[in-house]
Amino acid sequence: MTEHAEHTEHTEHTEHTVDVVVVGAGVTGLTAATELTDRGLDVVVLEARDRVGGRLWTDTHDDVMLELGGQWVSPDQTALLATLDRLGLDTFERYRSGAGVYIGRDGVRREFTGADFPVADRTAAEVDRITDLLDGLAAAMDPDRPWEHPQAHELDRITFGAWLAEQTDDVEARDNVALYIGPAMLTKPVHAFSALSAVLMAASAGSFSHLVDADFILDKRVVGGLQQVPVRLAAALGDRVHTDSAVDLVEWSDDGAVVHAAGRTWRARRVVVAVPPTLVSRIRFLPNLPPVHLQWRQHQSFGIVIKLHVTYATPFWRDAGLSGTAFSPYEVVHECYDNTNHGDARGTLVGFVSDENADELLLLDAAERRERVLGSLARFLGPEAAHPVAYYESRWSFEEWTAGAYATSFDVGGLTRYGPFVRQPVGPIEFGTSDVAGLGFQHVDGAIRVGRDLADRVR
Ligand code: FDA
Repeated sequence: MTEHAEHTEHTEHTEHTVDVVVVGAGVTGLTAATELTDRGLDVVVLEARDRVGGRLWTDTHDDVMLELGGQWVSPDQTALLATLDRLGLDTFERYRSGAGVYIGRDGVRREFTGADFPVADRTAAEVDRITDLLDGLAAAMDPDRPWEHPQAHELDRITFGAWLAEQTDDVEARDNVALYIGPAMLTKPVHAFSALSAVLMAASAGSFSHLVDADFILDKRVVGGLQQVPVRLAAALGDRVHTDSAVDLVEWSDDGAVVHAAGRTWRARRVVVAVPPTLVSRIRFLPNLPPVHLQWRQHQSFGIVIKLHVTYATPFWRDAGLSGTAFSPYEVVHECYDNTNHGDARGTLVGFVSDENADELLLLDAAERRERVLGSLARFLGPEAAHPVAYYESRWSFEEWTAGAYATSFDVGGLTRYGPFVRQPVGPIEFGTSDVAGLGFQHVDGAIRVGRDLADRVR
């Protein structure tokens, strides 16, 4: 231990000794803590917020239960599905009967059924061709080792936007393919991340075809809300979980560590830091982390998205034969879905404003922002969409202990340069969240996989 640690031992009288300290009570940290506790280890979980769940947060506003963070479960997410099963949580299908709506580059609103957008034949053929290309690239990738892809260096040196421009001169085809990975997934403009990161996003969900299939990727929701996963995991861990305990200092040596949070200290053999890469720098490490650890986290950043929850007296779109699903690369709300709660007679839409559109809207006052959002929903679903009974915006960029959404991704070149280091331990300390997952990258499924892996590493 350092001199500082010795000093701390003398001045603080609340030092506890455990086998493992887990920092962060998101799904990753709670999964790791559960696995370690099941193996008989003495574990404590320290969480900065006054609640558990991190980017999962089910809350009620204006008498409507809202999924402020993550909510959807898809069939490929087998780690999450198994966890739901173990915790006894039920799922229900997103409402999806009726026609979808697409607004094209010409500004014309068109209704459609099936998976394909109503675009010109050439545009549709180009979207299909690029989808095949991306599926081929994703199939050649091990999402746990994207830097080993046969074309890794070539694809990591070019932005996804520039790569798309090389593939086709059909602007609407490009804009549609871009939509699925830029605004809809990484929540960054397509000039801000590499083609390799785009392929990772696809490979982490099994294929690009999965990402474009809303009925697959946004298949199910959890009755009562997805935050019940961390809430139930934390309940089983009981008084091992401490909220309002932001870790600000970790003193470590090869023998173990002393972790400081909210004026208390814990001595442990191993530490699991399950906080997003961008927040690791808020913790002081003594001695400091190796240079590559200080570097790589400066190249992985959160995207930005405003998640909109708009509730109406009834799901009026269903009467008009619409599913509530709508897309447009040319609208400020680039995608929206029927998000009515299980058993609720009212109708709720969820919509998303992402990357540069989110930047722009966050500069407006609340009334102007609401007007822009409702205007977009009305163009998709009709004038009734402008008259909700409740309206709420999840703005994770305002959250001190997240500061963005949905997750983090590397800048251009970062994945090949730093990817091999993201799971590297430092002395007794392991790091990880869904941001460094392979399968389930950026998703709850990835958080569970990373949490299990962290537990395997420290046992
Ligand atoms: P997470 O960030 O949840 O947990 C980290 C924890 O560490 C937090 O609780 C934080 O407070 C804490 N912490 C940080 N610094 C600390 C410190 N110094 N000391 C102590 N604690 C500290 N996924 C999905 O599967 N389906 C979906 O539909 C969506 N949709 C979606 C929408 C929105 C708006 C968001 C924001 C996210 C999603 N996601 C999603 C993503 C999903 O929610 C996310 O990948 C996981 O919940 C991440 O879980 P982790 O535990 O890895 O990190």
